[in-house]
Amino acid sequence: MSNAADNWNPTSWRSADVRQQPTYADQEALQAAAVRLAALPPLVTSWEVETLKGQLASAARGERFVLQGGDCAESFAECTSDSITAKLKILLQMSLVLTHSLKKRVIRIGRFAGQYAKPRSSDTETRSGETLPSYRGDLVNSLDFNAAAREPDPLNLLRGYNRSALTLNFIRGLIDGGFADLHHPEYWNLDFVGHSQNAAEYQRRVESIADSLKFMETLSGVEVGQIDRVDFYASHEALHLVYEQAQTRTVPRREGWYNLSTHLPWIGLRTAFPGSAHIEYARGIRNPLGVKVGTGMAPRDVANLVDVLNPGGEEGRLALIHRCGAENVGRELPPIIEAVSATGKPVLWICDPMHGNTKGTSDGMKTRDFNAILSELEQAFDIHADHGTILGGVHFELTGEDVTECTGGARGLDERGLRRAYRSQVDPRLNYEQALEMALLVARKGAQTS
Ligand code: PEP
Ligand code: CO
Repeated sequence: MSNAADNWNPTSWRSADVRQQPTYADQEALQAAAVRLAALPPLVTSWEVETLKGQLASAARGERFVLQGGDCAESFAECTSDSITAKLKILLQMSLVLTHSLKKRVIRIGRFAGQYAKPRSSDTETRSGETLPSYRGDLVNSLDFNAAAREPDPLNLLRGYNRSALTLNFIRGLIDGGFADLHHPEYWNLDFVGHSQNAAEYQRRVESIADSLKFMETLSGVEVGQIDRVDFYASHEALHLVYEQAQTRTVPRREGWYNLSTHLPWIGLRTAFPGSAHIEYARGIRNPLGVKVGTGMAPRDVANLVDVLNPGGEEGRLALIHRCGAENVGRELPPIIEAVSATGKPVLWICDPMHGNTKGTSDGMKTRDFNAILSELEQAFDIHADHGTILGGVHFELTGEDVTECTGGARGLDERGLRRAYRSQVDPRLNYEQALEMALLVARKGAQTS
C-alpha cells in the first residue's frame, strides 16, 4: 500500500521478537475473530488522530500540557454510565486546575475505550499448588482463578471492541450535551479539602477557577464548554498485536496506515526493547505514539527507539512516558534525557509517576503512596528544567470513584484503610479526592517551574 515505512507491513511484527501475547488453544477461532474485527468500522478517525498529533507537537514545545489518565485495566463489568461519567468528570476538573495555574490549554487523554490488555511478569499464576494462565486483561481472559475463566477466549477481542465503541459513543454524547456543566464548582466534591494542611490554599484556588469561569461566561455570553469544546482523546497500551493489527487500516486521501482503534496507542515498558515486535508494529503506523521508558532501559536503547519510531523527526509523533520511581528518577532520568536530546529529534516528555512507585503491603496488597507519586513528579519538573527540556504532561492511573487503593492524600489513608474499597484488578489508582489534590499540587509545582 501507499508510502509505508521501509520494509514494514501490518504483519511484519510477526517476524520480530513477540512477547506478552496469550497462548490460544484454537488458532482458527483466533483468526476468525481477527477477520471479524477487521471488517468492523473504525472507532476513531484519521483526522482526529492527526489533530491530536498537532496538539502533542505544541505540548512538546511547552505551549500545551497533556493530562493522560484512567484505569490501569478497564474491565468489561465496569463499562457503565456511572464509571465513565465519573472518569470524565475527574479528568475535566483536573484539567481545569492545570489550565488555570499553568496558563496552558490541557490535552485530555483517557486511558479508556480499549485499555483491556495487560502485560504480566509471568505467563502463569500458581495458587495452592494449582497453576493456571495469568490474567491478561478482559480482552484475553477473566480474573477468576479457575481453568475456564483463565483460558484465553478469542471472542473477548470482539467483546472488548464493542465495549470500546460503547464507551466512546457515550463520551462523545456527553461532550456534545451539557457535560461541560461539570466545570462548575457546585459539581466538585471538595469535602476532603478540610482535612488537608493546605485547606486554605486549595479553597482559594478552586474559588479563583470559579471566578475565572464566571468572568469568561459573562464576557462571552456563552458557557465555557461551548467556547472551548471539551475534547477527550482515547489511548490504550497497544499490547495485543492480533487485535491491533486488525484495526490497522489505510484511509482514503491520506498516506500510510493508521491504527483506528484509538488515538494514541502506547508501548509498555516490558515490550519497548530493541527488536521487539511491538516496536516493529508501532513504527509503521501514523498515529502519535507513547512509549514507556525508565528502569532497566539503557539510555542508548531509548535513543535508538526514538530513531526507529521517528526517523523523520516529525513533531508530535512520539511521547516518551518516563516512569522511574521517586527514588530512582534523579539517577535514571538525566542520562535518558541526554541520550534522547543527542538524537536531535523532537519528543514530548510525559511523567508517569505511578509505575515506578508500586509496592506491596504487609498483607500482600499492591499500593502506591501519594507522597512518592508527587515526589517523582516534582523531581521530574526540576530535572527537565535543569536540562533545558520540558515536562509536557503527566500520566496517572486514577478513577473518579471513592476507591481505597493508594495511601496518603489529605485524608491520610493508611494501609489498614485500603481494604474498605480496593477494587482495582491490576494496579492501584488514585481516587477522586487524591486525583484532584494531585492536580492542585502538580499545578502549583508546574507554575513555579515554567
Ligand atoms: C501500565 O501503564 O499499566 C503499565 C503496565 O505500565 P508499564 O509498561 O510502564 O509498566
Ligand atoms: Co498499571
